[in-house]
Amino acid sequence: MRIVFIGPPGAGKGTQAELLIETYGVVHLSTGDMLRAARDAQTEVGRKAEQYMSRGELVPDEVIVDIIGQRLEEPDCAEKGFLLDGFPRTIAQAEALDEKLATMETPLDVVLEIRVPEEELFQRLAGRGRADDKPEVIRQRLVAYRKQTEPLLEYYTKKDLLQTVEGLGSVEDVFQRVRGVLDPLAG
Ligand code: AP5
Repeated sequence: MRIVFIGPPGAGKGTQAELLIETYGVVHLSTGDMLRAARDAQTEVGRKAEQYMSRGELVPDEVIVDIIGQRLEEPDCAEKGFLLDGFPRTIAQAEALDEKLATMETPLDVVLEIRVPEEELFQRLAGRGRADDKPEVIRQRLVAYRKQTEPLLEYYTKKDLLQTVEGLGSVEDVFQRVRGVLDPLAG
């Protein structure tokens, strides 16, 4: 299966991804995790990305499109399928992904939106304490989500790929809703 997760910061994308990869055996591709690893390794990309991440802004499209494009070409993605967690986040990224997957003849099966009210997102992230979980940075991440990422909901609705699950409730409750969407597609 080839899946995209869309949802605001704190919606539970990473949390659900962990359960999902165990159940369906797909490869987890988190652009946030990749960028944090590059930052910690002090690579050139990592140093550049950190300037944006620490402000809660999206890193430039070309940086992330290159990273994910290369990763998608590795054989495990073709063999097992994948879950894209945190990518695409802009229309330009979605178009680049479409192009890449068309070349590889591996179209997406589903785009899953996890929807959670803003008050809940603040509470969850405040309780976690990652470097970009300071209130002013969370606010900027939410602005970036609304302005740059939410337009993807219409983009994927038009392609008849979007499914939405309610992200409030326990982790297990949300996972059952995710399974409700994915099980019929798993074949
Ligand atoms: P990224 O790492 O993708 O962060 P994010 O989208 O802001 O998402 P989070 O990781 O904060 O939240 P999540 O939805 O995964 O929730 P989680 O499961 O962790 O991106 C970070 C930065 O990298 C961006 O700001 C940007 O700068 C850059 N970047 C990344 N991708 C990019 C791209 N494609 N283009 C440009 N820039 C990019 O859960 C959050 C908390 O809630 C946890 O503590 C968890 O335990 C808790 N929780 C989860 N589920 C529940 C539940 N059901 N009930 C109660 N608590 C819950």
